[in-house]
Amino acid sequence: MDAIVLVGGEGTRLRPLTYDIPKQMLPIVDRSMIEHVVGWLARHGIDRVVLSVGYRPDAFVEAFPEGELCGVRLAYAVEPEPLDTAGAVAFAAESASVRDTFLVLNGDVLTDFDLGSLLEFHRDRGGAATIGLTPVADPSSFGVVPTDSESRVTAFIEKPAPGTAPTNLINAGCYVLEPSVLELVPTGRRVSIERETFPALAEHGVLYALSSDAYWIDTGTPEKFVRASLDVLHGLRTAASLPSVPESARGAFVDPSALVLGRVGPATFVGRGALIAEGSEIADSVVSEDAVVEAGARISGSVVMAGARIGARAVLESSIVGPGADVGPSCNVSGFSVLGARCNLEAGSTLVAARFPSE
Ligand code: GDD
Ligand code: MG
Repeated sequence: MDAIVLVGGEGTRLRPLTYDIPKQMLPIVDRSMIEHVVGWLARHGIDRVVLSVGYRPDAFVEAFPEGELCGVRLAYAVEPEPLDTAGAVAFAAESASVRDTFLVLNGDVLTDFDLGSLLEFHRDRGGAATIGLTPVADPSSFGVVPTDSESRVTAFIEKPAPGTAPTNLINAGCYVLEPSVLELVPTGRRVSIERETFPALAEHGVLYALSSDAYWIDTGTPEKFVRASLDVLHGLRTAASLPSVPESARGAFVDPSALVLGRVGPATFVGRGALIAEGSEIADSVVSEDAVVEAGARISGSVVMAGARIGARAVLESSIVGPGADVGPSCNVSGFSVLGARCNLEAGSTLVAARFPSE
């Protein structure tokens, strides 16, 4: 079966990181987000993934030049301009010749949703499309999906005003579609599956939905992006998401080639060739390959990407440091700050909930 994975968004909420790296190429613990997604699809027997790319397609092609990932064949559908979600699906289906029942996934969602039961449910109901649903505390920043007693979708309300949603079950960003749905998507302009296609299918009574309590997160904001890694390390996901290095202490995963002289606490990943100097402390964090954490630095609730340096006595709390970035000695970075690739933060600087460099 084919799956179309939407990876064309610009990742605006993760800027300036996403100026260099598309969101789905950013690391979640030890591998890119797209590898987590394709791995999950592979475990459900999907044999071809069509990546619907617009923004920075070169980053994906360079990373996976063999056209294969996790044992799954990869095809690329590169949009000449962003066509929005339904436009992107129709374009990808056409350019990769998708002919049978297929899956569509939002590429920035990480989940352990059981796709086997979603497919079975879809076949059982016989609708044109079936949406996977997940419960959330605040549905206002998602697609809200009320259903009737037969699981038929009665309306699709994208991003309702706070306090107005009729249910807390939201579109989990995974769908089963029949090719007939594509006939509803006009060509030559942007078309949103959430604002046009699903409401039309709901009106015709041919749209169904199945909810699941399986692990689910949309990684679009800095806070959720960090959380996605910590959830893996806290064991909230299936074992397949865990890093492949041995667990040295409970929840601490340290690559054997890393040199650790400081203290590495629980729920921490230290990648290949990283150096953790004496007197430093790391907890609830990811320190990727070849990163350097100098003496006396303290890191918690953060993601430090490949080759970055955290200077002596710097404090990094709930923040993201891009690949190759240099955080000078005695800096204080907190509040879900995002530091771009290869930036230099001068010694002694303080950043709270900031973007650096700023736009
Ligand atoms: N190829 C392509 N072209 N992909 C796109 C485009 C486009 O023009 N626009 C968005 N995407 C991709 C994004 O990369 C992302 O993977 C996915 O489509 C969804 O876009 P987001 O921008 O992340 O949307 P959202 O998070 O605000 O809302 C969507 O996801 C929620 C679940 O996380 C909606 O589908 C909601 O209904 C849903 O609840
Ligand atoms: Mg999203």
